[in-house]
Amino acid sequence: MIPVCRLEDLPEGGSVRIDTAPPIAVFHADGELYAIDDTCTHQDASLSEGWVEGCLVECPLHEASFDLRTGRPTCLPARRPVRTHRVTVDDGVVHVHPAAEEGSAA
Ligand code: FES
Repeated sequence: MIPVCRLEDLPEGGSVRIDTAPPIAVFHADGELYAIDDTCTHQDASLSEGWVEGCLVECPLHEASFDLRTGRPTCLPARRPVRTHRVTVDDGVVHVHPAAEEGSAA
């Protein structure tokens, strides 16, 4: 579990990128916290720099849109989903629980 920031530092509509490998983007959208892989599956854009509307984030480069709840793209040009990660708030601090890498023993 990775501490991200204090909850008050991630206001509604905000996002933050954490330098994990691969990087993860955390969003406060539609009253909830969501974490997905930061790198768009189309090319290498950072989704934390995208535009959030409701539960969707639009890639800043070619405007593919991803559902923050599922990681699935809702339109082209992205075809593959991004991974989603669990987010918790503990004592006012936002934490991300990275999904285990595929094939890892963790
Ligand atoms: S890099 Fe995201 S849609 Fe192209």
